[in-house]
Amino acid sequence: MKDVYILGIETSCDETSAAVVRNGREILSHIISSQVRTHQKYGGVVPEIASREHSLHFEGVVQSALEEAGLGFDGLDGIAVTYGPGLVGSLLVGVAGAKALAYAARVPFIGINHLEGHIYANFLEEPDLKFPLLALLVSGGHTNLILFEGHGDFKVLGRTRDDAAGEALDKVARTLGLGYPGGPQIQKAAAGGNAAAFDFPRAMLEPQSLDFSFSGMKSAVLNTLNSARMKGITLPVPDLAASFQQAVVDVLVRKTLMALERNPVTSVVLAGGVAANTLLRQSLQGELKQRNISFVYPKPLLCTDNGAMIAAAGYYHFLQGNFAPWTLNAVPGLSLA
Ligand code: KG4
Ligand code: ZN
Repeated sequence: MKDVYILGIETSCDETSAAVVRNGREILSHIISSQVRTHQKYGGVVPEIASREHSLHFEGVVQSALEEAGLGFDGLDGIAVTYGPGLVGSLLVGVAGAKALAYAARVPFIGINHLEGHIYANFLEEPDLKFPLLALLVSGGHTNLILFEGHGDFKVLGRTRDDAAGEALDKVARTLGLGYPGGPQIQKAAAGGNAAAFDFPRAMLEPQSLDFSFSGMKSAVLNTLNSARMKGITLPVPDLAASFQQAVVDVLVRKTLMALERNPVTSVVLAGGVAANTLLRQSLQGELKQRNISFVYPKPLLCTDNGAMIAAAGYYHFLQGNFAPWTLNAVPGLSLA
C-alpha cells in the first residue's frame, strides 16, 4: 500500500503545533510553538491573547513542519485539524487555516476531536496496539475513562462531574504559589515532600460509579491552608503538594482498576497532559503488571497538546474515508460521546 502522509494541526489552547506523520506511526517533523511564557504572568491562559498568538505563528509553524519533513503540499495525502473541544478563538485559527490549506492543496480535509487526538498519541508510541483497550484521559479540561473496541468505536465509561484532574492540580498549585502550569510544578514540589503528611479525601462517589470529582479534593487542600493561616501556622508546601498529588493519583488508579474489572481489555493507555505525571505512570504500571495487562503511555512531549497526535488520529480517519465538509466549524464544547 502507498505511504500516507498527513499534516496534523493543533491550536485548541495555547500551543500552535504542526507535524507530518507517515502511516499514522512515524513522525517526520514536529513543531510546537508554546505560549506558556506569554500566559505565565497571568497565572493561566488568556483566550484573546492565545488566538492572536496562533494567528501570528500558524504560517511559520506549518511551513517549518513541511520543510523538516522534506515535503511540499503536493506530497500530502490529507490535512487534519483539531476542531474541538477548546477555546473558540484558538480553534478557529486552526480550523480556518487548515481548511484554506487543504482547499488550495486539493487534499482531504479531516476534523479531529482533540480528546481522540490525545489518545492516538499512544499509536505513535506503540503502532501495533491491540483492541479492546481502555484509555484514561487526564488533561487540563477533561478526565475520562474510555473503552475502545476499534478505531472510531468507543464508549465513555466515566467522566468528571466538576473539575478535571489537571484543572485541580493547576488550581492547587496556584494557591500554593507554585505558578502555571500547575501539574509539573506540583510534581516538582512533591519530589521533596511526604505524601502521607496530609490525609486528603479520595472522592470515589457512588460505589459503582466510574465518574470523578476533584473539586472537593481541591477544596480540602484550600481549607487546610486557610485554617493553618488563621492560626498563624505555615504548612510545608512540598508535603501539601506530595499529599495532594498522591490523592489525585490514588483516585485515578482506583477508578481505572474498577473499569478493568468490568471491561476486560488487553491494553490500557494513558493520555492528556497529566499523563506526563511520573507518579501516575509508575502507579498504573505497577498495578497493570500484576494483572498482565500491557500499559502504554506517550512520551511527555506527546502527552501535552501537539500536532503529531492530531496527524496520527487523522490517518485512521483518512483510511475510513471520514473527511470533514468545508463548512466544518470550531466546536468549543465538543464531547467524545
Ligand atoms: O492535555 P493538556 O496539555 O491540555 C489540555 O488539553 O487540557 O493538559 C494540560 C494539563 C495541565 O493541567 C497541566 O498542569 C497538566 O496537564 N500537566 C501535568 C504534568 N504535565 C502537565 N500534571 C501533572 N504532572 C505533570 N507532569
Ligand atoms: Zn489537550
